[in-house]
Amino acid sequence: MKSKNKFNAPSIENKTIEELSMKLFVANEQLKKDQKERTEMLANISHDLRAPLTAIRNAIDFIRSGQNLSTEDYIFSLNVIDHRTKNLENLINDMYYLFCVEDTSKEFDFEKVDALSFLDEYFLDIEGCNHYENRKLFFDVPDDLNCTINIDIQKMIRVLDNLMTNAYKYSGDEACITLNAVLSDSDRLNISIIDTGIGIPQDDIPHIFNRTYTVSSSRTPNSSTGSGLGLSIVKAIVERMNGKITCESIEGKGSTFTISLPVI
Ligand SMILES: Nc1ncnc2c1ncn2[C@@H]1O[C@H](COP(=O)(O)OP(=O)(O)OP(=O)(O)O)[C@@H](O)[C@H]1O
Ligand SMILES: [Mg+2]
Repeated sequence: MKSKNKFNAPSIENKTIEELSMKLFVANEQLKKDQKERTEMLANISHDLRAPLTAIRNAIDFIRSGQNLSTEDYIFSLNVIDHRTKNLENLINDMYYLFCVEDTSKEFDFEKVDALSFLDEYFLDIEGCNHYENRKLFFDVPDDLNCTINIDIQKMIRVLDNLMTNAYKYSGDEACITLNAVLSDSDRLNISIIDTGIGIPQDDIPHIFNRTYTVSSSRTPNSSTGSGLGLSIVKAIVERMNGKITCESIEGKGSTFTISLPVI
């Protein structure tokens, strides 16, 4: 009986080894994917660092060229230096922030908070600042939303700020931005930021959370000094809080970003 089992049917040991090698294979593939993404990100970062540095270098060379420069020339060059320095600062800060968030040895400050109070307070804050001027802001959260979520408050604020800033940046005057929250059947809280902005082409949606992906620089307003890492930061934070983020969008109509968090 013993030998039959050994040669004819897969033994428990064989099955376990098969399962283990499958898990190892999957982990190895993930590692390769992560390494490829990291290499691509480093290449992109070097490129992104070079562009503002070149502009700053050119502006300095222009000022030092000894030509008869007018006041406007000086002001123009200083503005270039100022704008491009902000580019660099944002890129370096966001890169560092993303590395910290992804570093699982750095603990999050988890706190159990009442979702309605947290969202209410957040919305009051953004309504009070003039950052979102010329947009119509709506709060669409039921008064009887009764649930507790386990979050790092500061990081969750960063998530909402990034999504709200995108909603503002990629929409025009008088566009509507709504903060919505509903409990799903499966005991999760779905928090959405909905805008009536320019939307995202369908083919781009699966890639927008990648660190290495930009839809098109022509879509970003000229005055923007962003790093392009905003949604990667959002995804990294949400996943460390055991959540998921999804995006639905129709070009020309608007976008909805939904964070789904487990409820306690
Ligand atoms: N609400 C939105 N509406 C339309 N397009 C969006 C929206 N949110 C994001 N996108 C698109 O996804 C891309 C990635 O967004 P992400 O926030 O990561 O970078 P960014 O806004 O370009 O730069 P940063 O957030 O660092 O300032 C954007 O460049 C933009 O094309
Ligand atoms: Mg952004």
